[in-house]
Amino acid sequence: MKGLILSGGSGTRLRPLTYTRAKQLIPVANKPILFRVIESLRDAGVTDIGVVIGATGPEIREALGNGDHLDVRITWIPQRSPDGLAHAVRIAHDFLGDQRFVMFLGDNVIEGGIGGLIEDFTANDWNSQIVLKEVADPRAYGVATLRPDGSIERLVEKPAHPPTNLALVGIYMFDHHIHQAVRAIEPSARGELEITDAIQWLIDAGFHVAPHVHEGWWIDTGKATDMLEANSHALAELSPVIAPDCAIENSEIDSRVSVQAGARIRNSVLRGPSIVGCNTVIENSFIGPFTSIYHDVCVRNAEIERSIILEHSSVCDIAARLQDALVGRHVSVRRAVGKPQALRMNLGDHSSVWIP
Ligand code: G1P
Repeated sequence: MKGLILSGGSGTRLRPLTYTRAKQLIPVANKPILFRVIESLRDAGVTDIGVVIGATGPEIREALGNGDHLDVRITWIPQRSPDGLAHAVRIAHDFLGDQRFVMFLGDNVIEGGIGGLIEDFTANDWNSQIVLKEVADPRAYGVATLRPDGSIERLVEKPAHPPTNLALVGIYMFDHHIHQAVRAIEPSARGELEITDAIQWLIDAGFHVAPHVHEGWWIDTGKATDMLEANSHALAELSPVIAPDCAIENSEIDSRVSVQAGARIRNSVLRGPSIVGCNTVIENSFIGPFTSIYHDVCVRNAEIERSIILEHSSVCDIAARLQDALVGRHVSVRRAVGKPQALRMNLGDHSSVWIP
């Protein structure tokens, strides 16, 4: 079975981070989401993987290389414009041939991997398998209606008035009939060829599309709040490791904290689940649960909880605790010295600051 990862998209809801970085490369628990997607395919035995890329393609290619470091083989499939998930399947036909494949959206994070799903799909003669998850507000997703016997009656993309709360997760399995479906459908109101419409086409044509209702957590990391939630889940699942070559001095570090190579921690209290990245320095600080501090960060005289701090940033000498913060690269958060003692800031486009 082949894998197809969709890694185009501009990530507008994650601005300003996505002005300078592909959203799939933003880390949760210090590992880029895209690497998590590839590892879950690999762990399910899928190592021949096509990656559809758009405007952020060069950065994604640089991060993944030929896939050797993740033990997979990557074929690049450039998509000239973001014309939809079904369009991505159209342009991937040469790579996929007529094999069965699993398609995974590069910004989806799911609990428990996909090994079981792939086993089910392989063991049955279904034409497709989709994954559904009950969510509180399904309006931003594809939404499914099931019949009393559990089969799918109807799928609709981003309905204003969702008929159910069963959202389509960004993981799909198909046989070769999907190629007929993606050629048959027309663009949706948002101008895209929707995979949801292609799957509806399969159902209408009498093909067997099996639904699987996922019980664990699932996060489509489209917005900052989703990133923080995905980060919390991923940290809670992490087996904590303290790298042998980090330096810890006069600090209290609980058993659910990971500390990566070269990190230096002094006079601090760290509560897990949390992770401190390579070569990061934490001094006279408190790091609370659900915090991921990436590599080469400096935290001094500060308190941080349930946040993600990206590489080469610093948080120093601040009295208030940072919480629910998503801080990009090369960012400096520090105390104002001198007058005026006001909140001073230098924010990029589409930044947000919350002031109590
Ligand atoms: C896409 C699909 C949608 C699905 C979602 C899952 O939405 O169109 O049906 O529920 O992924 O992440 P998009 O990311 O294009 O908004």
